[in-house]
Amino acid sequence: FRVPDPVNEAVRTYAPDTPERASLKATYAELANKKFDLPLWIGGKAVRTGNISPIVCPHQRKAELGGFHQAGTREVGDAIAAAQAARGEWAAMPWDQRAAIFLRAAALLRGPFRDRLNAATMLNQSKTAHQAEIDAACELIDFFHFNVHYLTQLYGEQPISSPGTWNRVEYRPLDGFVFAVTPFNFTSIAGNLPTAPALCGNTVVWKPASTAVLSGSVIMELLQAAGLPPGVINFVPGSPAAIGEQVLAHRDLAGVHFTGSTPVFKQMWRSIGNNIDNYVSYPRLVGETGGKDFVFAHPSADVQSLAHNLLRGAFEYQGQKCSAASRAYIPDNLWPQVREHLGDGIASIKVGDVSDFTNFMGAVIDARAYAKLREAIEEARSRQGGRVGEVIGGESDDKTGFFIRPTVIAGVEPEYRTMKEELFGPVLTIHIYPQARFEETLALCERGSEYALTGAIFAENRQAIVDATRTLRHAAGNFYINDKPTGAVVGQQPFGGSKASGTNDKAGSLLNLVRWISPRTIKETF
Ligand code: SER
Repeated sequence: FRVPDPVNEAVRTYAPDTPERASLKATYAELANKKFDLPLWIGGKAVRTGNISPIVCPHQRKAELGGFHQAGTREVGDAIAAAQAARGEWAAMPWDQRAAIFLRAAALLRGPFRDRLNAATMLNQSKTAHQAEIDAACELIDFFHFNVHYLTQLYGEQPISSPGTWNRVEYRPLDGFVFAVTPFNFTSIAGNLPTAPALCGNTVVWKPASTAVLSGSVIMELLQAAGLPPGVINFVPGSPAAIGEQVLAHRDLAGVHFTGSTPVFKQMWRSIGNNIDNYVSYPRLVGETGGKDFVFAHPSADVQSLAHNLLRGAFEYQGQKCSAASRAYIPDNLWPQVREHLGDGIASIKVGDVSDFTNFMGAVIDARAYAKLREAIEEARSRQGGRVGEVIGGESDDKTGFFIRPTVIAGVEPEYRTMKEELFGPVLTIHIYPQARFEETLALCERGSEYALTGAIFAENRQAIVDATRTLRHAAGNFYINDKPTGAVVGQQPFGGSKASGTNDKAGSLLNLVRWISPRTIKETF
């Protein structure tokens, strides 16, 4: 089959006085006034356990939004059983019919579900309308379209045959169910992790982040409205440790599709290792984990573009993108000008309730993130004049919501704590290097982190770009030249990193889909 050519979804601007803005605002207000009672979804049925956890709005922490039911041992067992029961029929469904369900989901998300998914992401995850639009609606629509397109390419890949034979490859799903564990920071990734394996014919147990159950529930409703059969994706919010332990011990676990922290993924890997003799097959492990993403400036860099991209790369969505710029290397000849731009930019950034569309940043996700960030910022402040040159911005206030203003910790050695540790918040740490030491500093950046997710070089000088691209070969899975390290677009910049940042099975690409397939080679002789 030839599927519709994928095109990236156009981003709505939600400009003042447009019907789009009015409609999104109205949907947000409607959700903000609800008392949710969100169920699990097992075998196509809503399940309520009574073990309820509250839905929190990070920028209005006192708002009472109701809660979501959490899965216990019994429901997790039921979800696995439902996934197992649905496997046969789902795998036997003609693949174009499976694909059509996801194209239908994309169409519904372009239409009636768009505002709901974006508003849920704004309310529960504190994304601005623009960030929700690009990281919830548009990117999930893109994942659906592009995954279908790449799967067609994959299915078309067939071996040659010599005369008198016919060799073919059948792209079967895996021999068991897939466990999808999804993060709070990208609604689109939360939607992609269960649906990419499902598109390939697998069934899935999905554990969403407890801080993003609202948008996850909207995705479940979307998939059901698109005609996804019962049991193909089973939605079980709840305790990560308990659910993980139970699912990972199951003999029919065939794959893990994970986005989250490095320690959690390593723990899952260990536990799978300990259970390895119990499984029917070797589980496929696909994980996108932490980052300590860099921006590297050469003395020839365009200062204005550099500063602009530092501000966007470090502070959009409160720095809570795994791709966010969180360490920078700036040459001393540029620093005074860069300092001025950053200072002005930080002072003018508006932080607050995302239902006010003029705010550029919302709140960080929860009290734990807030406390962790404050501790690192306060420690840096206490070292000013010593190990730290200066701290710019960094004010915080959690009376109404978990607000942390954009922060730059500047003038530190490459070994300073926040040059190495992932903070997952609006904190950019800067090492200012002597301009004559460009190459040595590149080498420091290359080996300066256990992570390798994203990074960027800013330079006007071509040789500097050549040197940086070569020296920083293993520092990032997504490398940007004169652009911020965030905002990969599905189909344009396949996304993922290596080292402690993940297995680098590029989300939204053929390379990812390959992991959810167990090919059977068939040879027939005539
Ligand atoms: N894909 C996102 C970005 O590039 C991160 O997950 O920003």
